[in-house]
Amino acid sequence: MNSGEYASATGQADNGYICRWNVAESSFLSPQNAKAHRKSMKHFVLFIAASAIQNAGYAAPTGQDEPLTKRLENGLGRTPALGYNNWNNGGCTHATADAALKVANLLISLGLKDAGYQYLNIDDCWASKARNSTGHLVADPSKWPQGIKAVADKVHDMGLKFGLYGDAGIMTCAGYPGSQGHEVQDAKTLASWGIDYWKHDACYLPCATGGTPPQCWDSRSITKEYYATMREALAGAGRPILFSMCQWGRDSVWTWGKDYGNSWRMSNDIANTWSSLAEIAANAAGMAQYAAPGGFNDLDMLQVGNGGLNENEERAHVGLWAIAKSPILIGTDLSKLKQSTLNILKNKALIAINQDSLGKAATYFRPSGKPAPVNGRLYPYWAGPLSDGVVVGLVASDGAATLAFNFADVPGLGSGSWNWSEVFTGTTGTGTSISAALASHDMRVYKITKAT
Ligand code: GLA
Repeated sequence: MNSGEYASATGQADNGYICRWNVAESSFLSPQNAKAHRKSMKHFVLFIAASAIQNAGYAAPTGQDEPLTKRLENGLGRTPALGYNNWNNGGCTHATADAALKVANLLISLGLKDAGYQYLNIDDCWASKARNSTGHLVADPSKWPQGIKAVADKVHDMGLKFGLYGDAGIMTCAGYPGSQGHEVQDAKTLASWGIDYWKHDACYLPCATGGTPPQCWDSRSITKEYYATMREALAGAGRPILFSMCQWGRDSVWTWGKDYGNSWRMSNDIANTWSSLAEIAANAAGMAQYAAPGGFNDLDMLQVGNGGLNENEERAHVGLWAIAKSPILIGTDLSKLKQSTLNILKNKALIAINQDSLGKAATYFRPSGKPAPVNGRLYPYWAGPLSDGVVVGLVASDGAATLAFNFADVPGLGSGSWNWSEVFTGTTGTGTSISAALASHDMRVYKITKAT
């Protein structure tokens, strides 16, 4: 391939898109879903066998080809969402008013709000198990004694935004009421409570292979029509509500997500391990072209602070999410954050790259003489355009390494001298190339601008 081009995982210069879904199904590991996962893996194996027979003559179920009459034009999510979500730290346990207000205070006292983290999102398990007699969603009174609105009001008074979680199917993944058939009513309820961000999950939706399983392992699952219904319901609810789609990359959501939501999860749930985040990032590299102001690939909530990653890996986790233009939602106990983790999260230059107005995601580039990317494996060399320069990410994905490249090999740059600054070390320089000795799984992120 020529230098100065993006590289796909097959090594061809094609602006980076890997045209297939290849995240291992086995990475769906949220605590709540571990049991369902084991069950569903059996279905998945059966599906693999069945789909070999079915693929050629597969008839799309009704709704699968729902014509797009509308784009999502809600004016929100012009840059990736920054904030907090309680799920990765204990699942259901912190979906309470008390916990939410503690998080709100910590976002402020730790300086995270000032750094840009504005959304405080509560995930599954906030609701009562049954709707009320008029069919409305109700908050669990033992968890939200004064209801959701009272908390949302307080959160707003603190200068933050408040998000909630629900589901496109008949139940949420943890078994609380889903919005299927109640979309308009639920969107109005959310608006009346002052909700700013809605995460719409995909458990208990009909599956192309039949039934309404907790998770449909058929990547042709029928999600589009349900997300269109919720998109319309939110649009008519009378309040701007960011629409965060969570159907784990089914139906190649990255190819159509921007017409439906402000972000779309492109993978199964992230686990608290290096291999999980590396796998997600490797797949995100193939979807970079779909990120744009108003709609972004969502690589899932952060695991930093949760004990499964060392400091180098935490740097790479946030660094990769930032340059891939993913929403960055902190998912750990803020009262126990290490200073090193906090420093990574508050890194101004890195957040500025994630929030760059151009909204273009970085992907792989292949410096001359380096091996080609391999599908599904995290590649060390990343680059992407910024409104005022270019970002380059170097990640020591396979152990300690000296990573080097010439600026002439980077898409958007060329021969001649360039100014660079590195966001984690604060080092700066001017020249025609960079070489960095990195510890295993560590990352450097360079902002590169024309030398004057
Ligand atoms: C799914 C989602 C997670 C989380 C849980 C809650 O697994 O992908 O992010 O919201 O449901 O049950």
